Amino acid sequence: QDSRINEIKSKIRVVPNFPKPGIMFQDITTLLLDPKAFKNTVDLFVERYKGKNISVVAGIEARGFIFGPPIALAIGAKFVPLRKPRKLPGDVISEKYVLEYGTDCLEMHIGAVKLGERALVVDDLIATGGTIGAAIKLLERAGAEVVECACVIEVPDLKGHERLNGKPLYILVESC
Ligand code: PRP
Ligand code: MG
Repeated sequence: QDSRINEIKSKIRVVPNFPKPGIMFQDITTLLLDPKAFKNTVDLFVERYKGKNISVVAGIEARGFIFGPPIALAIGAKFVPLRKPRKLPGDVISEKYVLEYGTDCLEMHIGAVKLGERALVVDDLIATGGTIGAAIKLLERAGAEVVECACVIEVPDLKGHERLNGKPLYILVESC
């Protein structure tokens, strides 16, 4: 395995009982404090996706906005923000998804993606897969082809990949 991956894993801080009891929060802000590990994280994704004809990187608010744009710039793709409700000013399509308690929603600007474009979905972490599942639905409703979903961290016990409608998932590290 790539030696960069162990270093990346070592820079992710686990905060027990945040934001509520029983949750082991995977904090990537400590990874961002280390320029070499942050760059290696972006580079690993770029090495995987450059030359794959991907024209759209879709990043999920908020933490997908940290990793998505540097990947998009490096592979020559556009960046499309998938935002929480009522943040985007133009006409949007929306997709609700189920959380542990209640529901949330992601929105994308109509016209951000063209029919047949090849898209990569980027977020920091996949847990239940509800968030990335909604991102996939938005892109597919807009006529894009989701090539893969990429995350820094996976919480493996939650079977998030089962909610991705068969789309491939690429992760760098499993949660501690
Ligand atoms: C976290 C994380 C992922 C999502 C994963 O975001 O950044 O986006 O949860 O959970 P899931 O796989 O169970 O859907 P959160 O909604 O907490 O918001 P943030 O990124 O704005 O901090
Ligand atoms: Mg998030």
